[in-house]
Amino acid sequence: MPNESGFVPRELRVDVVELAIAGLTATPKTLPAKLFYDAEGCRLFYRITELPEYYLTRTETALLRSLGRSLLPDGLHDAALVEFGGSDETKARFLLDLRDGSGEPVFNTYVSVDVAETALTELRQRLAVSHSYLKTVPIVADFMAPLDLPALDGDRLGFFPGSTIGNLDPGAAVEFLQASRDSLGPNSWFLLGADLRKPPEILLPAYNDSEGETAEFNLNLLRRLNREAGADFDLRQFRHQAIWNADAGRIEMHLISARDQTVHVGGQAIRIAREESIHTENSYKFTPRIIRDIAAAAGWDLHRSWTDAANYFGIFLLRYA
Ligand code: AVJ
Repeated sequence: MPNESGFVPRELRVDVVELAIAGLTATPKTLPAKLFYDAEGCRLFYRITELPEYYLTRTETALLRSLGRSLLPDGLHDAALVEFGGSDETKARFLLDLRDGSGEPVFNTYVSVDVAETALTELRQRLAVSHSYLKTVPIVADFMAPLDLPALDGDRLGFFPGSTIGNLDPGAAVEFLQASRDSLGPNSWFLLGADLRKPPEILLPAYNDSEGETAEFNLNLLRRLNREAGADFDLRQFRHQAIWNADAGRIEMHLISARDQTVHVGGQAIRIAREESIHTENSYKFTPRIIRDIAAAAGWDLHRSWTDAANYFGIFLLRYA
């Protein structure tokens, strides 16, 4: 559970050390993308969402705003909104503000599952002011871990916006949707935001912006390991790289070593060769058919979908009958 003191539980740091060593001793070297989101990483990601090249957030937000009530299945009421990876309630607000036929808020409960503990505490405080009737339940957890949801008796809508699903390999995406289906239970709904395939000339600048904000975001991962995993990365010896992997249908982010070097993480020495990569993130891009297939493999039926006029971003409503 979150706490107000900003104290980071010891287990979490041990976790960071273990994740980092596991990734950096693998071939090729990797670091899990979820480690991006310490307080500084959340702040840097927010700056990315405001960049002209990063069309994702603005496109999805415009969709959520313009679609409003039509995003929700008919008759949903006294419902719980369960957001996965929701360190920020900005997008959820478009749903939390919706009213049913009798003028009542559709949602009386908001569950937000995220690893960013501080962000969740702040989110709860903001919603206590703006939506005092709302039962807000922050859950500090990796959304991939099995979830113990509080008892939710009414209608349930899972919410996974932002194309965060793009961080997951296809198998993990199916696993996640399956686990969320199990947590939400029968008769539930799921609203999924996913970035769509488009030419690399549009995709690549979104991950390699002219201001260098994405580079900062990527490098901040090493800064975090220096602080939380007893590491000694020299950030000047790594550079940001984003590539389009056409075969896998994903953008990849890497940190490329400028020279042969040895870094230490949690007491362990790790050799990194000149031009060797640490693969820090995958961001899969989807077609509506791929989303339908992934959902189906996890036991969800695709009920409806929407995209913007340029077909940049999709919102998909799934049903578990
Ligand atoms: C939050 C995972 C959707 O993949 O676009 C932004 C993270 N990485 N710029 C994405 C991110 C680099 C973002 N997601």
